[in-house]
Amino acid sequence: MKLAERIKQAPPYLFAALSQKKEELLKRGVDVIDLGVGDPDRPTPQHVVEALKQAAENPANHRYPPYEGSMPFRSAMAQYYESRFNVTLDPAREVMTLIGSKEGIAHLIWAFIGPGDVALVPEPAYPVYGVQTQLAGGTPYYLPLCEERDFLPDLDSIPADVLDRSRLLFLNYPNNPTSAVASREFFARAVEFGHKHQILICHDAAYVELTFDGYVAPSILEVPGAKEVAVELYSLSKPFNMTGWRLAAACGQSRALFEGLGIIKTNTDSGQFVAIQDAGIEALKREPARFIQEMNQIYAQRRHVLTEGLKQAGLTVRSPLGTFYVWTVVPEGFTATSFSERLLEEAGVVISPGVAFGQAGEGYVRFALTVEEERLAEAVRRIQQAL
Ligand SMILES: Cc1ncc(COP(=O)(O)O)c(C=O)c1O
Repeated sequence: MKLAERIKQAPPYLFAALSQKKEELLKRGVDVIDLGVGDPDRPTPQHVVEALKQAAENPANHRYPPYEGSMPFRSAMAQYYESRFNVTLDPAREVMTLIGSKEGIAHLIWAFIGPGDVALVPEPAYPVYGVQTQLAGGTPYYLPLCEERDFLPDLDSIPADVLDRSRLLFLNYPNNPTSAVASREFFARAVEFGHKHQILICHDAAYVELTFDGYVAPSILEVPGAKEVAVELYSLSKPFNMTGWRLAAACGQSRALFEGLGIIKTNTDSGQFVAIQDAGIEALKREPARFIQEMNQIYAQRRHVLTEGLKQAGLTVRSPLGTFYVWTVVPEGFTATSFSERLLEEAGVVISPGVAFGQAGEGYVRFALTVEEERLAEAVRRIQQAL
């Protein structure tokens, strides 16, 4: 059997490689603490689970779902945007249900990128933007995110011939992996850029609810005129501990959603189980702010334990305002990979080397705050010893 060329060219998926390494250590009996993958460790709110149970009993939900999502879920999403961001969305034209935001990223790329087209992709970044662009036959043009620019891309640095071929710009704030945040002013500049060059902006807002110290992250759709050039992906995965449920929404630019994404989706998937969307309504409607605040307090406390511990181990650490990641410069004498290997082998702690998110991530590593505080404290103790 011969695999397609595009498969041979795809790099191994970062987290698959990490979990393989972790498995090897576990087999050797090592008590591994996994700060690698950013997957919330706490359960989904109980009322959401109960809503799923009820919705699963309803035979009407057992049939094919509408490909663009159930209208009650899309309406709940629009109402949420109104109350949370003061953004008005028409659920019929400006909201589409996704099977997780990863699905939306992949399919938006297939809707907008073909051979010869360019996607503007930040680096380091969630690997799916770049890899899917390549799978679709396009070319990623990487925009380095560096500390001197607060991990924001320099949109003015893109050469004119690249701009001519660019169809999509990816942004993601609060940012994975750098944990940087972006202001509304930055989004306003991006929207202006999108208008000027007729490039669709895909803002991946996976971490928009995960913020600390009183900071509240904006939606790009708050910017006047954004809905004409931007699609924002809002995921229920991280704010409501629902990564396994696969539920998100694409909001904004109507044609991009219904003439682009929708065509790919109707020919690929048949939408998300309506019972899961019904449960998602419960997450969005029943005191979402209270649950999110509770979780953010937990992550803030874990962030404190980790950052203080790493500082004591001699590392230079910034305390992030958003995401459940801590992005740190590796100590002198190490590369991102050699430092990660050192912590894995001598402390049994899995972290992500920055290069796993692109070459611009060299010199950094990412710690995820998705284990309980005691385990994090234990990880810190072991790291201090290992160094
Ligand atoms: C930046 C970013 N975007 C998207 C996703 C995928 O989220 P979802 O569960 O909604 O597919 C992740 C998951 O880690 C992520 O880090």
